[in-house]
Amino acid sequence: MELQSVVLVDGVRSPFAKGGRGGFAATRLDDIAVTVLKALLARNPKLDPNEIEEIGVGNVGGVAEFAGLAGNHIGRLAGLPESVCSFDVSRQCGSSMESLHRIAQSIMVGATEVGISMGAERMGRQLGGAAAEGNRITEFNTDRHDMTPLQRNMASDHAASFSQPIPDFILDSDPVLSMTQTAQNVADTYNLTREQLDGFAVESHRKYGEALAAGFYDDELVPYETEKPVMNDDGSVDLSQHGEKILVSQDEGYRAGTNMETLATLGPVKGIKSYGDRDLMITAGNSCPTNDGVTAALIMSEAKAKGLGLEPLARIIGFGVAGVKPQLMGLGPVPATRKALANAGITADQLDRVEFNEAFAAQVIPSMAELGIPLEKVNVNGGSVAIGHPLGATGTRLVHTLGREMKRSGAKYGLATQCIGAGMGISTILESV
Ligand SMILES: CC(C)(COP(=O)(O)OP(=O)(O)OC[C@H]1O[C@@H](n2cnc3c(N)ncnc32)[C@H](O)[C@@H]1OP(=O)(O)O)[C@@H](O)C(=O)NCCC(=O)NCCS
Repeated sequence: MELQSVVLVDGVRSPFAKGGRGGFAATRLDDIAVTVLKALLARNPKLDPNEIEEIGVGNVGGVAEFAGLAGNHIGRLAGLPESVCSFDVSRQCGSSMESLHRIAQSIMVGATEVGISMGAERMGRQLGGAAAEGNRITEFNTDRHDMTPLQRNMASDHAASFSQPIPDFILDSDPVLSMTQTAQNVADTYNLTREQLDGFAVESHRKYGEALAAGFYDDELVPYETEKPVMNDDGSVDLSQHGEKILVSQDEGYRAGTNMETLATLGPVKGIKSYGDRDLMITAGNSCPTNDGVTAALIMSEAKAKGLGLEPLARIIGFGVAGVKPQLMGLGPVPATRKALANAGITADQLDRVEFNEAFAAQVIPSMAELGIPLEKVNVNGGSVAIGHPLGATGTRLVHTLGREMKRSGAKYGLATQCIGAGMGISTILESV
């Protein structure tokens, strides 16, 4: 079967608000999603909405306001015809990169011509997850902390992706853990220093600030007018109260002027430990924040885009998903990217630009070193430490932000990649059109 060439035409997103306490804390996520989707369609008037076949929505935590299928719900509210199909997908943090992959792959085999990948997440009520004790999941599954030798020991092809073995203190550690603990584990395994992590975070904010001032993000951000959340004394939102009208137009995690001196004053995240008996170094400053947000990208066959006279951002040419130890989930982008590069038929040194989801500074630094990709090519407009990371929404953002940066800089090949909570990575390779 001859594969069709598939292109990323355009992408937009809401600003990423602070999870549970930011500008979207009292706002329905479906309303935001409809605004984002309509903005994407309004920017592409050459596309008749009747030609959209599929909406895929990535989401991790479940969003109460999405009745049934989120994609169906959003499409109907946005006024799309009944003929548009939808699916929801969870691959944890990789969810909306997964929805993008599925649509792109369906177009490649000729089963679909036009689709929209979306991601939506409200993180306010979500952290704690697998590591939290005393809930219905943990009480009934006490043996989930046990490991068989097969699960404990390294995979036989470990050396194909990684330069060093995983220390015993990590292999023997609990596989059920918080994401911040996985970041400390990676820092311990690679002997990273606090200065490296904080330095990376300072750069993320600096680059984001410069890109914002240069207008780079104006092209993807869809401002949203809403009611300011009214907070109770205990930090919860009082949904019976109506706050004043506000325009949420910028990512709320960004802190202008972030510097080494202030970051050095922040203590380690509560609850993490060092199995390697090293300094605790994961802080609110060198981690991504928690966020609420929605993303969307328009994908179609290259032939369709040409026929409609659309100018795509980039061609989607490679996919990869790979598993790693849950204790070191931040390294998932290493084998996932190797797979995606092989799938695309290119090598790491051919990449000009990388959008790497900065879940934690601690995982980006060693992952890029393992792949031999210099940090100068990575997140040149800042990353999730500054922008934010609304779990299931991030994958679609990474891919369309990469497409726009490739177009801006004249890059030939680009990589979007992210780690995934259960112990995986996911990667997409783009090529200029
Ligand atoms: C790390 C984490 C626990 C911190 O939570 P938090 O304490 O609510 O974080 P905040 O953003 O409120 O930061 C706390 C304080 O640190 C300080 N701080 C954070 N970033 C800073 C920066 N860049 N410069 C200066 N101070 C900063 C501030 O004093 C801030 O308090 P303030 O907002 O009242 O000024 C949380 O953001 C988290 O869990 N992140 C990871 C999410 C995750 O796992 N995602 C999935 C990845 S796979």
